[in-house]
Amino acid sequence: MSVLTIMPSGKTTEVSPGTSLISAITASGETLACTCGGQGGCESSHVFILEGRKTLSKAERTEHAMLDGIVGVSSKSRLACQARMGEEAVTVEILSFV
Ligand code: FES
Repeated sequence: MSVLTIMPSGKTTEVSPGTSLISAITASGETLACTCGGQGGCESSHVFILEGRKTLSKAERTEHAMLDGIVGVSSKSRLACQARMGEEAVTVEILSFV
């Protein structure tokens, strides 16, 4: 199990490797929109990865393409529906401007 810390609340949850960030976030009781059903076709699950970026699954071409079109994207950006937990701790920030 890996620890996921969710900001700005600071809530922590233990997550099995391979679990999508959006599943872990919503299972913890936090709210994160998923308007395309987690297919990588919208920007509602845009989050910043504050720590642990390298332990997450690699972003596929479709995720990169979607992120390229999002206002406010940065090197910390991932789509929570596409990124999957690895073996190490991750800190994710739910964005208020999405
Ligand atoms: S929920 Fe639409 S891209 Fe993640």
